[in-house]
Amino acid sequence: MIKTVIICRCEEVLLRDIITSIENGAETLKAIKMETRAGMGICQGRTCRVLLEQAIAPYTDITIQETNNIMYKNPVRPISLANLSRSGKDSSQ
Ligand code: FES
Repeated sequence: MIKTVIICRCEEVLLRDIITSIENGAETLKAIKMETRAGMGICQGRTCRVLLEQAIAPYTDITIQETNNIMYKNPVRPISLANLSRSGKDSSQ
């Protein structure tokens, strides 16, 4: 029942998915992330990072302090060169 708790909304990762990943041999936070994609969604872990840290700690030897090295990445979107070149122009001319 508690295993249906959503850990990562962006990638729709449940606690059950995290536990399964650990049971299947994922021993590092990176391995868990790569297998489940938790923390790799559009918010890049801003929403789920704390939940992910708390979910992992009881099932692994990884402490919450050790999970603090999850890297934040800024959410970025592709921009076309045309939009980029227009961004510096004064539109009144
Ligand atoms: S909620 Fe996990 S990456 Fe956004």
